[in-house]
Amino acid sequence: MSKAPMILDHPLVQHKISLLRDKNTGTKEFKELVGEIATLLCYEATRDLPTKEVEVETPMGVAKCHVLAGRKLALVPILRAGLGMVDGMLTLLPAAKVGHIGMYRNEETLEPVEYYCKLPSDIAERDVLVLDPMLATGGSACDAITQIKKRGARSIKFLAIVAVPQGINKLREMHPDVDIYVGALDEGLNEIGYIVPGLGDAGDRIFGTK
Ligand code: PRP
Ligand code: URA
Repeated sequence: MSKAPMILDHPLVQHKISLLRDKNTGTKEFKELVGEIATLLCYEATRDLPTKEVEVETPMGVAKCHVLAGRKLALVPILRAGLGMVDGMLTLLPAAKVGHIGMYRNEETLEPVEYYCKLPSDIAERDVLVLDPMLATGGSACDAITQIKKRGARSIKFLAIVAVPQGINKLREMHPDVDIYVGALDEGLNEIGYIVPGLGDAGDRIFGTK
């Protein structure tokens, strides 16, 4: 088993997720909130990035400072809903490359179906942050990560806005090497595999398709 997931208990994250959950929050605000929460998740998920010491000349003298030690990063949103998190992540990580993996859940079986995958050619050398607002049964996240590993990635973290224990447990069992960062942990799934209380269908709410 991997280490326990990091559930962000920051007041800003809690506040913004409460707004996301509200069924009266419209598409524009929903998309903005997903981006802002992604930025806050990114801050936490990059806490262990290595740094190196450098000397910087200030107007007053020389400061010993730390800068990022040059680890290369890749963001991989799971289409569609993960796309909503990309810009918020790039706010803090402008040099990250972005790959895409397309998965949708078969609505009857809830099994994930992969329909697209395009990753940076040097994915094996990058720390990969896989993005999806929702971790429900865990099928999509597990399969997406399996595909990303098949293409060579060795260092992977998974970031979600809302998760349930079932999805977290499945991901920890199938990919114990993957650290998980989550904005909120909900009770469980309803009979059609939606997170309760959750926030509904994240993709539809981000893109206004329902
Ligand atoms: C949603 C969500 C996840 C998946 C989570 O995507 O964005 O990818 O469901 O469910 P799981 O943990 O049970 O696999 P969906 O299949 O609705 O596709 P979409 O993003 O294109 O709307
Ligand atoms: N996918 C979503 O978008 N929402 C859920 O609650 C579960 C899966």
